[in-house]
Amino acid sequence: MAIRTATLTIDPPVALAPLAGITDLPFRRLAARFGCGLVVSEMVASREVVQAQPEARARAELGLGEAATAVQLAGRDPWWMAEAARLVEASGARIIDINMGCPAKKVTNGLAGSALLRDLPLALRLIEAVVAAVKVPVTLKTRLGWDGGCHAAAELARMAEAAGAAMITVHGRTRQQFYTGRADWAAIGDVVRAVRVPVVANGDITDAATARAALAASGAAGVMVGRGAQGQPWQPGLIAHAVFGTPRPAVPEGAALAALVAEHYEAMLSFYGRDLGVRVARKHLGWYMDRAGTPVALRARIMTAPDPAAVLALLPGAIAGEALAA
Ligand SMILES: Cc1cc2nc3c(=O)[nH]c(=O)nc-3n(C[C@H](O)[C@H](O)[C@H](O)COP(=O)(O)O)c2cc1C
Repeated sequence: MAIRTATLTIDPPVALAPLAGITDLPFRRLAARFGCGLVVSEMVASREVVQAQPEARARAELGLGEAATAVQLAGRDPWWMAEAARLVEASGARIIDINMGCPAKKVTNGLAGSALLRDLPLALRLIEAVVAAVKVPVTLKTRLGWDGGCHAAAELARMAEAAGAAMITVHGRTRQQFYTGRADWAAIGDVVRAVRVPVVANGDITDAATARAALAASGAAGVMVGRGAQGQPWQPGLIAHAVFGTPRPAVPEGAALAALVAEHYEAMLSFYGRDLGVRVARKHLGWYMDRAGTPVALRARIMTAPDPAAVLALLPGAIAGEALAA
């Protein structure tokens, strides 16, 4: 089963959510390799894309030209959004996603992200501007509403569909909930019933059981997994296997897992450069080690080691429990 429309194919309909600072290009490549159907770049401000002439790494981060990758734009000015969309399309973006869900104050104070749930006419102008600017499919990622009293997502979705949006992902929380409480998958059903374009359910989906429950409660066409993929980039692929019958990804264990973590580590070093890479990699190593039950002292050595060679030498012991060479 896949999401298939006139303009868009998501196969399988299991996506990796954009997590700024986490789902960078090295991580997205791993998740894609394990069989997830769509990955989304970390949000990028539309004006920055146009004005800042992003340096090579920032451009690469957008995943322009990578298969099954959506580039996510944020902004509140239709002109900048359209220009940014045009630019990233010209550079190879295959899907453009508009962020209408980010709850961060620095984004909502600028009236972008989830603040657009309080200004649907502006949200509509943004969608129209982006759709008119590009030929590739334009999708939307949003929340249920601004607060409990305002579940604007269904209305926004109707407007987005009429304006030509190809798919809508809904995180089942309001902006005022930030990340507290539980995602309300049943409330996503209001959006599903409001439109004919595919709707993807997001929020607190971490495994096959939660994916099935979210799909049953919402009637959505697919799921998007964010934090549930931290330290386990195979998880969206595993969910796709269990729920949609795709081939089962080989989930690495023991020495194979240690090798995968080392490969991920080296990919981060080469993507960010050594010094930044060592620092960025720590959160990922931390999640892998949490899952592996790495002893506290060994974990601390890895998390503080400034030298990548030392980290790589310690990983088999930390992840696979292999004895360290004397
Ligand atoms: C650290 C972090 C960064 C995020 N960055 C983005 C982002 O750049 N764009 C976006 O649309 N959502 C962003 N989100 C929201 C997630 O995509 C997702 O909607 C949310 O985490 C709920 O899904 P989950 O429970 O599967 O993690 C972020 C969430 C977190 C925790």
